[in-house]
Amino acid sequence: MTETLTIRRPDDWHLHLRDGDMLRAVLPATAAHFARAIIMPNLVPPVVTFAQARAYHARILDALPQDADFTPLMTLYLTEDTDPDDVAAAAESGLVHAVKLYPAGATTNSASGVQNFDSIRAVLERMAEIGLPLCVHGEVTEAEIDIFDREAVFIDRVLDPIRRATPGLRVVMEHITTRNAVDYARAQDGTLAATITTHHLVINRNHILAGGIKPHYYCLPVAKREEHRLALRAAATSGEPRFFLGTDSAPHTDANKLLPCGCAGCFTALNTMSILAQVFEDDGALDKLEGFTSLHGPAFYRLPVNGDDITLEKTAPTLPAQIETAEGPVTVFDPGFDLKWRVV
Ligand code: NCD
Ligand code: ZN
Repeated sequence: MTETLTIRRPDDWHLHLRDGDMLRAVLPATAAHFARAIIMPNLVPPVVTFAQARAYHARILDALPQDADFTPLMTLYLTEDTDPDDVAAAAESGLVHAVKLYPAGATTNSASGVQNFDSIRAVLERMAEIGLPLCVHGEVTEAEIDIFDREAVFIDRVLDPIRRATPGLRVVMEHITTRNAVDYARAQDGTLAATITTHHLVINRNHILAGGIKPHYYCLPVAKREEHRLALRAAATSGEPRFFLGTDSAPHTDANKLLPCGCAGCFTALNTMSILAQVFEDDGALDKLEGFTSLHGPAFYRLPVNGDDITLEKTAPTLPAQIETAEGPVTVFDPGFDLKWRVV
């Protein structure tokens, strides 16, 4: 008999859906497996205000396939001009579930992000009061800091000071890539959680650079040394509630990836559950998969666990290498091994 695994329906706590044609092309992949996702606000222009988040939410619902059952959990893009009252109204509405902090220049479409962290004090204090989580892209942007050190330096120079200055602020360290971040997260109280992507459990920096450059493995934060990947695997499969899935599935067309200055991002929405089942099985932790994908996230975000299940079976999935979009093909993340599990 085919081996099967039934778990609560998962959520994705960090997702890029984009807009327009790209949104229509990528949304079905997420909605097929995930009940909810925290939607990143780094559009051009960014989703800064509650009104913009409401409008984007409506566009996402409009792009959903007819039979889909999917709830987008919206976020606001934090700028130095963000109004604390607007944030509070957005949270109160139940539509907006987090505010996203991008240090200016850290990643794709982050030019409107924060340069002077003193200017966001009032917003952070209000968020601490109302319990609204701050999702953090944790990398410093100084040119002199080596790109492989930017996350570790951010923790010391920016994240820890912000948390000390704003007691009670609930923070998600997003898409962590280092042992430093795992260790930091483990040493904190319940106000801090960390998401881990699918691809950072699979690739290290050699996959990007050894034997020829692989633009499809380039994402931000960039994958680090093998010892860091192993620390992320241990954290994800540990069953500790502070770690949960945020795929950071970030679609870019091949034309935009395969450039002399290519875009950062891996498109993993389509095969994340197949990859994760295998990662957890390989680490002897299949029993911890449900916590990572379906239980820990809702607990941190103070939302109910999904009412329905999904079943995976141990049969090789047939997945496309690319999906077509009106803007051109988008390559699906290749884990570099044959997949054995498929969502039924
Ligand atoms: C993301 C994107 O393309 O929007 N890219 C990425 O490499 N992860 C931005 C981000 O989350 O940093
Ligand atoms: Zn992201």
